[in-house]
Amino acid sequence: MSIARLHSLRSVQLQVPTLAESTDFYAEVWGLSVVERDRDDAWLRGTGPNHHVLQLTRAGQNGLGVISFAVRTPAEVDEAARRLTARGLPMLAEPGPLDQIGAGYGLRFVDPEGRTIELSADVHAVRPLDRDRAVPVGVTHVVLNTVDIDRAVAFYTDVLGMRVSDWSEHQMAFLRCNTDHHSIAFNQATWTSVNHVAYEMPSMDHFMRGIGSLKQQGITPLWGPGRHGPGNNTFGYFADPAGLVCEYTSDVAQVVEDQWLCKTWRRVPELSDLWGTAGPPSKDVRSHMAGVEDPGAFAARPELARCFADDPQTLDVPAEVHA
Ligand SMILES: [Fe+2]
Repeated sequence: MSIARLHSLRSVQLQVPTLAESTDFYAEVWGLSVVERDRDDAWLRGTGPNHHVLQLTRAGQNGLGVISFAVRTPAEVDEAARRLTARGLPMLAEPGPLDQIGAGYGLRFVDPEGRTIELSADVHAVRPLDRDRAVPVGVTHVVLNTVDIDRAVAFYTDVLGMRVSDWSEHQMAFLRCNTDHHSIAFNQATWTSVNHVAYEMPSMDHFMRGIGSLKQQGITPLWGPGRHGPGNNTFGYFADPAGLVCEYTSDVAQVVEDQWLCKTWRRVPELSDLWGTAGPPSKDVRSHMAGVEDPGAFAARPELARCFADDPQTLDVPAEVHA
């Protein structure tokens, strides 16, 4: 039994050595709005109801801070803590009021590659903003580079209850926690890092106007615009001032449980770029997406890695999932 039933991806924290420039980029160019900022952090929102969707934190090098998922009630957070304990999985923060902007009630734990996962409920909501503007509603998915895609998929399906929507050969796996085709995707890579963060535009028109707005400011996509096969979503990938990849996307496939057939897509140009507008990803975009090796929470707490050293129950992936 998974530890919780995830409601949605709530927010992402990114660590950057370029806090001021990155905050200006996401606020002035990308279309988010600063909710709060202090010397070492900035919190930004989209037009949707989430208090913030992106936290930027000053750091020596790029990294992933926290991936925060919403659950419905504090009681579900407490239950998740009991189930983590029963599985012998260590928590970084026991369930309780979150000492952060936006408050809420939550807990934090680590995944097998040191990423920090937060489950939270009762975080402050904010009044939605005008959706006519070509700016993001919020964060819609995060793609993570993993050194062991089977292990990552096993952990997120078994422990977090996510479902595999599709595979892209044995290179990428797309995982959902609600009707969106994917909220998390894993990409097999040579080191652990964040590959990119995607921001939802309300429609394809908003998506194109958003890309046009960036173009007017002299910023062109690293890759795109185009439409992917897996997920059917539009894509336009850009590099932020820290060199991290951010994506405008829209029209992600909606999954009806019990009717969706998970399949394995071939990695051919006509399926990764359905419109034929984007062409293959360049060396430059691949390099940005590879990022820098990120030990996450294991940097400060290397002993946590040992909790995953020989955990057969998180290593089982049914063969048919990606046959
Ligand atoms: Fe994406």
